[in-house]
Amino acid sequence: MKKVVLTTCSALAVLALSSAFGSGVSYASEGNAHPLPNIQWSFDGPFGTYDKASLQRGLLVYRQVCSACHSLDRVAYRNLTALGYSEDQVKAIAGEYTIVDGPNDEGEMFERAGRPSDHFKAPFVNEQAAIAANGGALPPDLSLITKARVGGANYVFGVLTGYAEAPVDFEGTILDGQYYNKHMTGNVIKMPPPLTAGGVAYEDGYPTSVEQYAKDVSTFLAWAAEPEMEHRKQMGFKVILFLLAFASIMYAVKKRMGLA
Ligand code: HEC
Repeated sequence: MKKVVLTTCSALAVLALSSAFGSGVSYASEGNAHPLPNIQWSFDGPFGTYDKASLQRGLLVYRQVCSACHSLDRVAYRNLTALGYSEDQVKAIAGEYTIVDGPNDEGEMFERAGRPSDHFKAPFVNEQAAIAANGGALPPDLSLITKARVGGANYVFGVLTGYAEAPVDFEGTILDGQYYNKHMTGNVIKMPPPLTAGGVAYEDGYPTSVEQYAKDVSTFLAWAAEPEMEHRKQMGFKVILFLLAFASIMYAVKKRMGLA
């Protein structure tokens, strides 16, 4: 019986551990020989948390650069309180966007200022318009990009910093409007290098380098894809504590009954 209790407890502990420690593994992207960068993210590991200052800088980079082409459909402005903004600050951010709403009583669509409950405004009205404006390539929605791609935040960071001259032995072809990229599958991407040093002004003195922008926006996108990560890790930890306490109580009971 003691064995059964202990085995069950350790099996559950392993489950809890794997759900708490889940991500953090980095893989090389498929189809090319460049291993992905392996950044030390603040949110890695069982006790990792999001760095709020980095999230705020990442939001700035997304809003000033990426949002010209990429939507972020699953994130609502009100979710930004998780980045450390007050409700009033979130209201102000939402209010900077013009949202098409409706129809009104006359059956007309109308424009109004954004509200915290609105989701991030998409740059294009539909996928066709997005493809037409981007040389035939669809800029994917970024809400889940760090979960949808092997390597997660390291992959996004890798793509953003992976532009280079194609090596002389590169066997593919790079057409007009295409760029060599170390970490894109097939090493060719239709996204022009989006980041340039100094392009986004930081107020907190952080370096305004391509690497820092890439790091911050990847952190922001990791949060967008998994806003509940910190909660999940805390739960995993609590479950382990509970199981340890439970196992020792069971052991004490057995002992008391003279069975252990
Ligand atoms: C001028 C428009 C434009 C801007 C600005 C832009 N992108 Fe892109 N992005 C694209 C297009 C188009 C693609 C699809 C490329 C392809 O399929 O070859 C793409 C692809 C990507 C990919 C690879 C997606 C995949 O399928 O694996 C990532 C990651 C990405 N963008 C992130 C960003 C981030 C982060 C920013 C802001 C720093 C940004 N992009 C800014 C147009 C843009």
